Amino acid sequence: MMLPGSPHIAYRGRQLFVEDCALDDLAARFGTPLYVYSRAAMLAALAGYQRALEGREALICYALKANSNLAVLQTFARAGCGFDIVSGGELERVIAAGADPAKVVFSGVGKTRAEMRQALAAGVMCFNVESVAELEVLSAVAAAEGATARVSLRVNPDVDARTHPYISTGLKGNKFGIAHDEALAAYRHAASLPGLAVTGIDFHIGSQITAVEPYRDALDRMLDLVESIEAQGIELHHLDLGGGLGICYTDEQPPSAEALVRDLLARIDERGHGQRRIVLEPGRSLVGNAGALVSEVLYLKPSAARNFCIVDAAMNDLVRPAMYEAWMAIVATTLRDSPARNWDVVGPVCESGDWLGRDRQLAVEPGDFVAVLSAGAYAMSMASNYNTRGRAAEVMVSGSEARLIRERERASDLFRGEHLL
Ligand code: LLP
Repeated sequence: MMLPGSPHIAYRGRQLFVEDCALDDLAARFGTPLYVYSRAAMLAALAGYQRALEGREALICYALKANSNLAVLQTFARAGCGFDIVSGGELERVIAAGADPAKVVFSGVGKTRAEMRQALAAGVMCFNVESVAELEVLSAVAAAEGATARVSLRVNPDVDARTHPYISTGLKGNKFGIAHDEALAAYRHAASLPGLAVTGIDFHIGSQITAVEPYRDALDRMLDLVESIEAQGIELHHLDLGGGLGICYTDEQPPSAEALVRDLLARIDERGHGQRRIVLEPGRSLVGNAGALVSEVLYLKPSAARNFCIVDAAMNDLVRPAMYEAWMAIVATTLRDSPARNWDVVGPVCESGDWLGRDRQLAVEPGDFVAVLSAGAYAMSMASNYNTRGRAAEVMVSGSEARLIRERERASDLFRGEHLL
């Protein structure tokens, strides 16, 4: 059976493996729900970007909102990555993973003064500033600290990434970035403010993008702007092309990272900007296909209207189906001979929206395990404790070795910090 996603997650005979580890064995050893990641799949995804950037001055800043486990960050840091962060908490994670804050870009529309101070003290490479108001606050904070904040303005190119509306960020109506027509004035303003050093420009137009065209459009708009900004005597050292490249959940056919980046670099060279440093902020495309969420089938509840397959993972573990109606493949970890039936795969949380997949063909019995595929991105990192459910454990596989990289939360972990009256 062909599975969407990574070749590192595949059947061997009847058993589903992540690299050389059978998921049934991992489920028995670590319990469920369980997130399992393939280290080789992550590094292979990164290698595509690295090949395209070979010989360039470039930095791949992994957007850790996609999966912020320390061992994942360590894996990418060791492979040479920087990081795209959106909070002081993410900065603490990067530092705890042993990575270099000088390779960090700080994105996000709502940075607090405290986060700005924290990032200045850590010496981040750049603040990706998203509004004029933020620019002024950052200037004041940096000046008060006697520091210089390196800034790049996130420009909203007003291109349609043709992705889900909740994860499209480059259109005029989105809260993100500075409007294209206001960017030049914002750069002039930035150059005049104390405590700031303009270093670059960036865009990020959305997520799960499966076509090259929106990137090409955004890039061309950005380069037009770069030319008018530099005509004003403001120098830009780096171009940050954001993240957003999609992955295959079912039958999507996104360009490979290598093809996308080569295409954009060719355009950058063609327009005479080849000397600039390139920054990228991929998240999903580095980790998405590297992960699976393993869950035990608790009960089968067939009925006249719908058949429910109730599993021990729920929307608190994986909210993408409930939140975006995202379709993620669900397969049995051991294939049975019995005929498949149609199931709605749902969790134990008390919400009708608590489903992982609808109308799935599965041959399963209680006690079997299922795996939700392509669950390496925006899965565990979006998990919650709703219904006082501890967050799942996470395991990193490398060959036949499986390491626990996050312990399962216990109820006592969840109410630590709460006080009786
Ligand atoms: N840079 C910035 C400024 C971003 O806002 C994002 C993602 C990224 C980089 C990384 O984008 P990626 O390469 O992962 O597409 N929770 C949603 C996705 C939200 C993406 C938010 N921004 C989901 O589960 O589909």
